[in-house]
Amino acid sequence: MDTPESLNEMKSFLADLPKISWRGHTDLHQWKGFWVMPEVVKAVMAIEDQFNPLPTDIILSSFPKTGTTWLKALTVAILSHSSRRQNEVDDDPLLTHNPHELVPFLEMELFGNNPSRDIDKIPSPRVFNTHLPYSLLPDSIKKSGCRIIYIARNPMDTFVSNWHFVNSRFGAAISIEEAFDEFCGGAIPSGPFFDHVLEYWVERWREVRFFITYEELKEVPKKQVKRLAEFLGFSLSLNEIEEIVLRCSYDRLSKLDVNKNGGKVYWSGFEFGSFFRRGVVGDWQNHLSAEMMERVDQIAHQKWEGSDLPR
Ligand code: A3P
Repeated sequence: MDTPESLNEMKSFLADLPKISWRGHTDLHQWKGFWVMPEVVKAVMAIEDQFNPLPTDIILSSFPKTGTTWLKALTVAILSHSSRRQNEVDDDPLLTHNPHELVPFLEMELFGNNPSRDIDKIPSPRVFNTHLPYSLLPDSIKKSGCRIIYIARNPMDTFVSNWHFVNSRFGAAISIEEAFDEFCGGAIPSGPFFDHVLEYWVERWREVRFFITYEELKEVPKKQVKRLAEFLGFSLSLNEIEEIVLRCSYDRLSKLDVNKNGGKVYWSGFEFGSFFRRGVVGDWQNHLSAEMMERVDQIAHQKWEGSDLPR
């Protein structure tokens, strides 16, 4: 992919895409309706070229700040329960690893600028995460028969979580009003948010697709973990489900040493602790005005009309 010809091809491909500068931090290109960083465009092409998806693979997909960390933890906990059953050993990988260390990020980590892991050495079932919208997921993945799990979150809490995260980590902080305009306009990494969610919602009926929301996980965690485990092929006892819910709870994970000791996600430099802020539903009420709420409602109404996507 990095031959001079391919680099030239990439440059001319990017040059043809609409571009904005995002917060002085990176360019964003609009590709198939979504705003992505140039390295993401490059990674998607590398995934198309070099990634050999297996039917046993599990892809965790999400818009940023919708519960990716939680979904990673739950998936790891569900998959590792069977080794606990067999070996009767309590090996909890979440005790010693942040969920982002356990589930590699497809486009930024494995196919990003500095790939560090040999993808072929990851044991089966391989679990990856992505923030790619469905329409940018390579066909090789869509047709591989692998499972794709999408977690969605209420737009307003997603926005507030994003605002805090981005403000404290990328360049100059911007006001909530500016950030809100940006979120509503859609020109943010992986945006527009509303289209991202809708694409996966439309695909959810397929056999190997699964759609879950942050809010339902909060409201009825045992029911949702059971559903998730069944989708992954496991029938869990009530005790096992309760154990998994507990092990992956915000209260537990956010207090574990591994997530508090300043460790960082190697490809991004984000501190493990930065993925745990408040972990509640409805924090938007502390930040957004009635007008802002109204605007989100209007966009959701317009974009999701006729889709029966719950608001
Ligand atoms: P808040 O900023 O609203 O607190 P992502 O993992 O996609 O980056 O999303 C981060 C959001 O999920 C943050 O939301 C974070 O606090 C919350 N979160 C992280 N781990 C969680 C868990 N185990 N349970 C519930 N929420 C969690």
